Amino acid sequence: MSVNVGRRLKEAGIKWVEEDAENKDVYVPTDEMKEKAYFSDERIYAEANNNPEEFWAKQAKELIYWFDEWDADKVVNLEPPYFNWFVGNGTNLSYNCLDRHLEENRNKAAIIWEPEPEDEAHEVLTYMDIYREVNKFANVLKHLGVKKGSPVTIWMPMIPETAIAALACQRIGAWHSIVYTAFAPHAVRERMEDAGSKILITVDGFYRRGKIIELKKRIDEGEILEKVGAENCVVVRRANSEVGMKEGRDHYYDKLMKDAEAYCEPEVITSNDYGFLLYTSGTTGKPKAVMHSCGAYSVGVALTMKLVADLHPDDLFWSTADIGWITGHSYALYGPLLIGATVLWYEGAPDYPDVSRWWGIIEKYGVTIFYTAPTAIRALRAAGDEWIEGHDFSSLRLLASVGEPIDPDTWKWFFEKIGESRCPLVDTYWQTETGGILLSSLPGIGPFVPGVAGPALPGVRYDVLDANGEPVKQEESGYLVVKPPFIPSMLRGLYKNPEKYVEEYWSRYGTDTYFSGDGAIKTGMEIGGQTLIKVTGRIDDVMEVAGHRLGTAELEEVVQDLEEVVDVAVVGKQDAIKGEVPALFVVLEKGVEKSNEDMDREIVKAVRDKVGPVATPEVTYYVSDLPETESGKIIRRFLKGLVRNELLGDMTTARNPECLKELAEVTQYRGPQKIPGYTGTAHLGNE
Ligand code: PRX
Repeated sequence: MSVNVGRRLKEAGIKWVEEDAENKDVYVPTDEMKEKAYFSDERIYAEANNNPEEFWAKQAKELIYWFDEWDADKVVNLEPPYFNWFVGNGTNLSYNCLDRHLEENRNKAAIIWEPEPEDEAHEVLTYMDIYREVNKFANVLKHLGVKKGSPVTIWMPMIPETAIAALACQRIGAWHSIVYTAFAPHAVRERMEDAGSKILITVDGFYRRGKIIELKKRIDEGEILEKVGAENCVVVRRANSEVGMKEGRDHYYDKLMKDAEAYCEPEVITSNDYGFLLYTSGTTGKPKAVMHSCGAYSVGVALTMKLVADLHPDDLFWSTADIGWITGHSYALYGPLLIGATVLWYEGAPDYPDVSRWWGIIEKYGVTIFYTAPTAIRALRAAGDEWIEGHDFSSLRLLASVGEPIDPDTWKWFFEKIGESRCPLVDTYWQTETGGILLSSLPGIGPFVPGVAGPALPGVRYDVLDANGEPVKQEESGYLVVKPPFIPSMLRGLYKNPEKYVEEYWSRYGTDTYFSGDGAIKTGMEIGGQTLIKVTGRIDDVMEVAGHRLGTAELEEVVQDLEEVVDVAVVGKQDAIKGEVPALFVVLEKGVEKSNEDMDREIVKAVRDKVGPVATPEVTYYVSDLPETESGKIIRRFLKGLVRNELLGDMTTARNPECLKELAEVTQYRGPQKIPGYTGTAHLGNE
């Protein structure tokens, strides 16, 4: 262990406004990390922030190959809330991930794939292998009528063909829309309908916890392709399970690939073209499609791979995120390949056949950089330290976390037990909308503070504002925002929904301030003149369940549709492992004869069928009324306070405050607020 690790921030000469008992542990990089890291001088912040446009332009030239250069005076064209980077450029993401690495690295491993069944051999795909397959599949897509700007829906697990399919879309300028495999077929339908997608790429089945999850069969059972009027469905044979294939519409991937031509000219994509769609949950019932750019997105992703993941060509990078989420897009696929590094893909569950699977994989392949989510760490930690004993973690040099705040306890366990108190642990904050990391300490600069994400990246103008739009003072909380010129990898809109785009991100503080939807605290600590931020979580009706983003409104719509249900409200309840889990408050029709247990089963089934297992409710409280405003809007903050045992706030805003007594009883509220008529114990002494 290096002497530097664990050295207090103050001793490192970094500005530390006030000593805070909660933040006792502040870590700085080891000398070894400083020497290896691309960035180890905190002056990078001043340099980048003095002229963000110049900074981004320099990075863009270094990191990406452009068929056409952009106009020198048009690094960014701001017309808030719209903006365009590198105006006049032409590029292609598949060219940047593959072709340009061939000269020097054609035989280098691009993806190492570990299947879930332990008796199945792993696969190594070189840059040349992927290049060959992507070219052929791009030609296949063209033959199936896919063009530049066509939406292509992909419902696929973590297998190499998923990477090939996504890169093939990039090659011809089609927009992939990848759907998470733990969503329901209904979610595939909604997304295909919304995007107007006429093609689905899926698998017969894949392995998860020893079972075969049969995706094509589930699509057929739900008659999804008929309902959306799909013209083509490409089926990758992964599990060799029986599937129905409709003549003329359904095609096996391997058969199509047999006759495909070997080369496909990459389409030149400009800054005005989009790169892909990714559906994410917001404050309404239906998920919305975030539109990402191609070239500008790739600049942000490639740069963060170097800045935050410090990814060198000799690293083996493992991001455990599924391809169905933005982390899978940016950091399991595009980022590592843009840098020409090697990335690990694992098909299955972290706890199969037992909870040491991930640790075994790190050891087996010598993973050097490990990027995962707090929920996974908490679950693996809860299983007991005996599962990590005897594993060799000496290959690791950097740990990273994403998806939700990582609590200091989990942070320390991860840092000490897996990182052996040797590897910096960076807490990366970002969103589907930002495309790439927004806040994080940098591994070669630090500081690393458990529970604190860090400053924004160099070149990012950010702030924490109060409700009136004024910057909060140090150690105060408010809402995290990004200011112009924003960042190249940020979303370019919501597909077919410009009003929602403005409403969701640009209405709170006006069109020159991007509103993240997250609460944040200025910690009082600074590095390179930048304040370290602690992110406290969503302030809207979005939950983070085991690191998966879910809208409460999506679940409410499904439950509301049940015949017996009069009213429903969903809130996120804290959970020791998953961070948050959905808690439901349901008002049933009068005279419903079904027992609560039967209703529970029905609700769970409806949610699993319509949204997917990932959204399964943790608990349902059956009540006779829900607190509402005079105008009939459910007051969710009361419900949140009840399930979280926190303050509920001013109860006089409710039209029917008397219903809170019953709600406090069913939730067994133990929080600090006194609720009239409720005799629970916790409020005693706090009156
Ligand atoms: O609330 C923040 C939380 O995850 C949200 C974004 O979710 P999604 O678009 O699914 O992207 C997840 C992966 C980037 C944010 O609005 N979040 C993400 N990372 C962190 C976080 N909250 C605190 N700390 C983080 N490191």
